[in-house]
Amino acid sequence: MNTFYQLKVLEVKKETADSTSVAFDVPYDLYETFNYKPGQYLTLKFTINGEEVRRSYSLCSSPVLEEPLRIGVKRVKEGLVSNYINDNIKVGDIVEVMPPDGRFFADVKKGNYKTYYLFSAGSGITPILSILKTILLTEERSYVHMIYGNRNQDTIMFKDELEQLKMEHADRFILIQTLSRPKSTWSDLWKSSKDAAFKKGRVDSEAIHWFINQYPPYAQNVAYYICGPGTMIQNTKKALKNIDVPDDRIFIESFGGSDSKDTTEAFENAKLTAHLNGEHIQVSIPKGKTILRTLINAGKKPPYSCEGGVCATCICKLKTGEVHMKNNLSLTDTEVKDGYILSCQSIPLTEEIEVVYQ
Ligand SMILES: Cc1cc2nc3c(=O)[nH]c(=O)nc-3n(C[C@H](O)[C@H](O)[C@H](O)COP(=O)(O)OP(=O)(O)OC[C@H]3O[C@@H](n4cnc5c(N)ncnc54)[C@H](O)[C@@H]3O)c2cc1C
Ligand code: FES
Repeated sequence: MNTFYQLKVLEVKKETADSTSVAFDVPYDLYETFNYKPGQYLTLKFTINGEEVRRSYSLCSSPVLEEPLRIGVKRVKEGLVSNYINDNIKVGDIVEVMPPDGRFFADVKKGNYKTYYLFSAGSGITPILSILKTILLTEERSYVHMIYGNRNQDTIMFKDELEQLKMEHADRFILIQTLSRPKSTWSDLWKSSKDAAFKKGRVDSEAIHWFINQYPPYAQNVAYYICGPGTMIQNTKKALKNIDVPDDRIFIESFGGSDSKDTTEAFENAKLTAHLNGEHIQVSIPKGKTILRTLINAGKKPPYSCEGGVCATCICKLKTGEVHMKNNLSLTDTEVKDGYILSCQSIPLTEEIEVVYQ
């Protein structure tokens, strides 16, 4: 775990005005290490403005195709790494990359006879595209029903690749694109669209109900995969629960981030005691910094990966004091009750904070 390898950038492709895909060259001796399941992600490490930062990006390539490992990165407003990648990464650059990881993947098998519902919005298309391609190429008897939401026609990532897949697998792949703020008038869009398979609006409860009623499953063994912004995930899950889809059929990937601004005030210059790698560290937490960032800036090496509240690699136990977690997409209520916190998301609420990394 936590080992980074240096991979060379093979290709950089502008997908839309605000997104880029980056393909990596994996040397032969690392093939095994970088083996992946469709839906998994890579974690990248950069040093930006003198600070080490890590972010996770889902693979949009498929492990069953002879194609390089590829990620798709969409700019986040004022986001550090997403904008750095979109503005700076070029062919030939060497990037520090952790091997593929993640529990969001499809267990694709040749003999399967299933119906897959894929729900995605915005950059949430990346792991969904990998799953989609892998199913269509491997499971000859399975069906895929997919709905993909975007703001308008210009923000659709992997538009051509999706259209190509739709053409090649028309008998097994239904793709509905929905646009929340289409650029042209709807009559124009209908005229220009070949099959009128566009819808207006977001991927919300209403759209999900319509979609499932309109395109019921062919094979009765059904799995549901969801990836997109927080509200889209919540709405989709709620809509599926309303029609009694069991939890073990629903698979969700969250990219972190928050739909609303967190205005919780931290305790300024709180004293942090951290038990980490056999060390007893004492340092004060600067304004606006999390426990994890404070330790990294102090030259320590706490475990972490996504820095988005998703992977739980940065977990530690709070022994003294109180913290506020800006985002928690991985710890269970019981873990939180037992005092576990995500150090990448925790800011101090009290003067003294003591944490133990295990
Ligand atoms: C498992 C996993 C897979 C991911 N896969 C992808 C992927 O395939 N493509 C992709 O583009 N991104 C993906 N992400 C998100 C990515 O890791 C970063 O969080 C994202 O690029 C923002 O990082 P940043 O440094 O630009 O923003 P930061 O500087 O970290 O944040 C700036 C501001 O944006 C908000 N923010 C952070 N992340 C998001 C977000 N995802 N959406 C909206 N607001 C956000 C923050 O709350 C903050 O206010 C994935 C995340 C995880 C955990
Ligand atoms: S590093 Fe992933 S949740 Fe903190």
